[in-house]
Amino acid sequence: MARVSIIGAGYVGLCTGVVFAKHGHDVTIVEVMPERLASLRAGKVPFFEPGVQEALREALDAGRLRATDDHQKAVHDTDVTFLCVGTPQGADGAIDLAFVRGAARDVGKALASKKDYHVVVTKSTVVPGTAEGVVGAEVAVASGKRPGKDFGVASNPEFLREGSAMKDALAPDRIVVGAIDRRAADVVWSLYAAFSCPKITTDPKTAEMIKYAANAFLATKIAFANEMANVCERLGIDYYEVADGIGHDFRINPHFLRAGVGFGGSCFPKDVAAIAHVARSAGAPSGLLDAVLENNEKQPLVAVRLLEEEVGALEGKRIALLGLAFKPDTDDVRETRALPIWQALTDAGADVVCYDPEARDTFRRLAPEATVVASAQEALTGADGAIVQTEWAELKALPPAKIVAWMRSPVLVDGRRTFDPHAMRAAGVRYRAVGLGKR
Ligand code: UGA
Repeated sequence: MARVSIIGAGYVGLCTGVVFAKHGHDVTIVEVMPERLASLRAGKVPFFEPGVQEALREALDAGRLRATDDHQKAVHDTDVTFLCVGTPQGADGAIDLAFVRGAARDVGKALASKKDYHVVVTKSTVVPGTAEGVVGAEVAVASGKRPGKDFGVASNPEFLREGSAMKDALAPDRIVVGAIDRRAADVVWSLYAAFSCPKITTDPKTAEMIKYAANAFLATKIAFANEMANVCERLGIDYYEVADGIGHDFRINPHFLRAGVGFGGSCFPKDVAAIAHVARSAGAPSGLLDAVLENNEKQPLVAVRLLEEEVGALEGKRIALLGLAFKPDTDDVRETRALPIWQALTDAGADVVCYDPEARDTFRRLAPEATVVASAQEALTGADGAIVQTEWAELKALPPAKIVAWMRSPVLVDGRRTFDPHAMRAAGVRYRAVGLGKR
C-alpha cells in the first residue's frame, strides 16, 4: 500500500484522500487554513458533500488518514503527492496558476532533502502543459533534482460532480493518468489497483486536455439544449418532449440535455473560458466555445423575459426568486445563474425576495443588498410573479394550490422545469418555463 500526501482539502482533495484511505493507502492531507485544518482533525468536513463526513471519520478511526499543515514532513514521509489546490479564473478568462505554482514549490523544497524517488501528480484542473511545464519545472528548481530521474511528474484529472462526489470517486466511469514516463505512471496506477473501470494512460498534456474537453463538451451539450429550448418555446413546442425523443438515440444519450437558465458552478464557466483562452493563444480560436459562453450569459435573461411577458413592466412589482444555489443539494453559489437574474430584476425596478433551502447565507455574501427570506412561503406571499432558478426537491413539493393562495398574482416562470406544467396550470398558476410554449 502506498503512502500518499494530498495538498489542499477542498472537495477534490478530501474526496480523493478518503477514497485512497478506503482502499487501504496511508494518506496525509496538507491544509494550511487553520480553521479547515482544525475541523479536519476533529473529523468534521468543512463543507457540505454527502458521504464525505462518514468516510472521513472511518479513515481517521482506522488511522489511515491524518491532516497537517507541515508540507515538508508530509511530502518527505510519502511516496506520491497530489496537488488539489484551487485554480481560479484570471484576466481574460485565463487560468490563475498561483496556487499550483506555490504548492509545487513547497513540494520541491521538501524533495530537496529526500533521497527516494517521488511522484508529483496534478489533480487540479489545469491547462495543457501545466503538469510538465509549470509543476515539474517548479519542483525541479526548488529541489535541485531532475524530473524523470529523481522524481516523476503526472496528471490525474478529476471528474467528480459536487453533490455526488463520493459516488463518483468510488465508482468512476474512467480514470485518466498522464505521466512523463512509465515509472511515474506505474506509481499512480498502483493507487488505483482495486478499480475495474476503463483506465487510460497518456502523456500529461493529453490528460489535461481530456479534462477540459470533457467539461467543454458537457457545457456545449447544455448550451445546445438551451438553444433548442428557446426555439421550441417560440414555436409552441415542449422542448422536454423533444429531449426525450432525441435522448433515446444512443449516440446522443438522455443525460445533460436539460434546458434552463444556464450552467453555473466552479467548473463549467471557468473551464470553458480557460480552454477558449488557450485556443485563442494557440492560434485556433473556438467560435463554438465562445458561443457556448455567450449562450450561458444570455440564458438567465430568458426567464426574466418570460416573466415580463406575463406581468408587464417589473417596476415596483414584488418578485420571488426561488433557488439560489448553482444546482440542488449544495450551498454553493459560485457562478450561480441566480445572480444575473436577481441583478436584471433589480435593475428593472422589481422588489426581489429571494429564498433557497441551503444557500441563503452564501448568496447574502455574494449579493449583500439582496433580500433573502427564510421560507418559500414567505418569498411567495404577496408576490406578483416568481422565477425558479434551482430545482430543489423542497420547491418541487410545493402544492400548486398553495402557490396560488400565497401569491398576489400567480405567475410562475420555471427556469429548470421543476414542476409539471399541467398540474400548475390546472391549479390556476400562469405557468411559463424555459423551452415550453404557452400551450
Ligand atoms: C462538473 C462536471 O459535471 C464534473 O464531471 C466535473 O468533474 C466538475 O464539473 C469539475 O470540473 O470539477 P459540477 O460543476 O459539480 O460538475 O456540476 P454539474 O452537475 O455538472 O452541473 C453544472 C451546471 O450545469 C449546473 O448549474 C446545472 O444546473 C447545469 N446543468 C447540468 C444544466 O443546466 N443542464 C443539464 O442537463 C445538466
